[in-house]
Amino acid sequence: MKRLENKVALVAGGGSIGSATVRRLAEDGCRVLLGDIALDQAEADAEEISRATGVEVIATAYDQGDDASVKRLVQTAVDHFGQLDFVHANAADLSVAGEDYDAVATDLAIYDRTMDINLRGFVLVTRHAMPHLVKSRGAIVYTGSGSAYIGEPTRFSYGMSKSGVNALMRHVATRWGPEGVRANALAPGFVLGRRDASALPEGFMEMVTAAQRIPVVGEPRHIAAMVAHLFSDDGAWITGQVIAIDGGSTMRA
Ligand SMILES: NC(=O)c1ccc[n+]([C@@H]2O[C@H](COP(=O)([O-])OP(=O)(O)OC[C@H]3O[C@@H](n4cnc5c(N)ncnc54)[C@H](O)[C@@H]3O)[C@@H](O)[C@H]2O)c1
Repeated sequence: MKRLENKVALVAGGGSIGSATVRRLAEDGCRVLLGDIALDQAEADAEEISRATGVEVIATAYDQGDDASVKRLVQTAVDHFGQLDFVHANAADLSVAGEDYDAVATDLAIYDRTMDINLRGFVLVTRHAMPHLVKSRGAIVYTGSGSAYIGEPTRFSYGMSKSGVNALMRHVATRWGPEGVRANALAPGFVLGRRDASALPEGFMEMVTAAQRIPVVGEPRHIAAMVAHLFSDDGAWITGQVIAIDGGSTMRA
């Protein structure tokens, strides 16, 4: 029997890392609802992963900025599969990251949008999913970022939103741990994923790998493997942690 057989996960936010998580969970036998604002891509990913793994994976559209939409997302998982064991809160609006400069220069609309989708959106996911996770004594994994603690000169809104995610995770781990729910956050380093490498500044990838302790380019599957580990019984005693997955570029106590 595969390690996540008879389990159901909601992956809120597909894209590079989210779809890799869906694939990894399905490979481990877990049925998955993939939600994303970009429905066409999510449906294509769900269909391909379902075909490749033989495990039921479905997709639906939702907007992480909208409470009613997030509520519908969670309800879709429960209505379709009859249970909800795991949530990967993963979506972030990265389309505004290029205009997220410093705390003085950044338009407040960019700040508001970043906090709204990346942080408040995870609060919405948490609020709607929690009753079901308590029932299943399940687990939630939030995708944070190394930018929460490295102190970047730009992307101040993004870093703040991800710091907030870590605080949310610690709250959830503490508040619902006694009821059997585990919560953890991941802090990925740079993962190219589906982004166009040719759009990156020259020498960027070399700079990234030079800052790591191993010269291995981060891939979405590296992040997905940790999500699956945390959802499995192998992760049964891990909660309240921010786990860096970054080739060793950060070394935190
Ligand atoms: N790629 C990296 O280097 C890296 C590093 C650290 C952290 N992260 C985090 O990993 C997560 C996934 O990032 P990724 O690299 O896979 O990016 P991605 O852009 O491929 O995936 C993000 C997904 O979120 C979806 N999304 C955006 N706004 C949404 C909304 N309002 N409602 C619902 N879905 C929405 C997008 O459509 C997209 O599919 C994010 O939380 C990101 O902050 C990424």
